[in-house]
Amino acid sequence: MITTDLTAVIKQLQANQLVAIPTETVYGLAGNAFQEAAIRRIFELKKRPLYNPLIVHIKSGKELHTVAKDIPEKAYLLAETFWPGPLTMVLNKQAQVPELISAGKNTVAVRVPKHPLTLELLNSLDFPLAAPSANPFGSISPTSAQHVLSYFEHQLDFILDGGSCDKGIESTIVGFENNEVVLYRHGSISLDEIEAVVGKVQPKTSNDHTPEAPGMLTRHYAPATKTYLSKDVARLMQDFPNRKIGLLLFQQKLENAKVHYQEVLSESGNLEEAMKNLYAALHRLDQLDLDLIIAEKLPAKGLGISLNDRLERATKN
Ligand code: TXA
Ligand code: MG
Repeated sequence: MITTDLTAVIKQLQANQLVAIPTETVYGLAGNAFQEAAIRRIFELKKRPLYNPLIVHIKSGKELHTVAKDIPEKAYLLAETFWPGPLTMVLNKQAQVPELISAGKNTVAVRVPKHPLTLELLNSLDFPLAAPSANPFGSISPTSAQHVLSYFEHQLDFILDGGSCDKGIESTIVGFENNEVVLYRHGSISLDEIEAVVGKVQPKTSNDHTPEAPGMLTRHYAPATKTYLSKDVARLMQDFPNRKIGLLLFQQKLENAKVHYQEVLSESGNLEEAMKNLYAALHRLDQLDLDLIIAEKLPAKGLGISLNDRLERATKN
């Protein structure tokens, strides 16, 4: 059930059970990061392949050494700049982090989330929380407690309600290779913002081989409804006469369009607002029993790059 009862949620986690928690990016499916049984249950519930590692959520940068080691200078700099916040760093892991979390790798992904309820929760626990996004593997991430309920109503006792997520897409993931910062997943901090702090960052977000960060997996974040992405939505619509079409548009609706339903992400053309609305709009469109969804490609700069990344993955076959 959806709750704001922090005490009940704390008890549940201490008893090695799972709960859904709000973060500023998306809701997470959380369990004790030091308990293998809890972690195993996360993979089962999400139907997530065991090769796809989880993110560990800590209460502050001061705790970083409890899960990670050999921490590069630039990682401290990034932590100071962006934590609490939507930056995940992949670092060498401490032995006490179970292998299951990191899918057998010797690294661990870690971040400090920026949500008052979840920070309060972390401060009440003496262990960090492993938490992937609270959706079945491959589907759209949840940005409200209601979204989580729609996925896991019968499997979760508690969904901690922290309102709708401020950022609306997942954290940006970086790692360190040969002392350089590399980007594994575009996310709610733009690449420009990160480069402003640490200089040039090498993108490593392709998905041809075993994914370094399977946020990279080609088809991901996908609605059940067949979805297309286009710069010219009106043109693409002509390829689908007499079909029940839903549109996901950046700034304005199409006039006179024979569409069943239209979602606009930000009338003022603000990419942060579009980001906050993206998954909720996709969830709504996906509920409408449409034949197809056509999404409009966003301007490819700043956060637009992250948003297009999610839309591209949502539209892959
Ligand atoms: O915003 C977020 O990051 C949300 C909230 C709940 O914190 N979490 C999230 O988790 O998006 P998830 O599991 O859906 O995505 C985690 C990503 C995956 O792409 C995974 O492959 C990558 O992090 N990852 C985890 N550990 C890694 C590691 N050791 N090396 C490389 N990538 C890793
Ligand atoms: Mg996910």
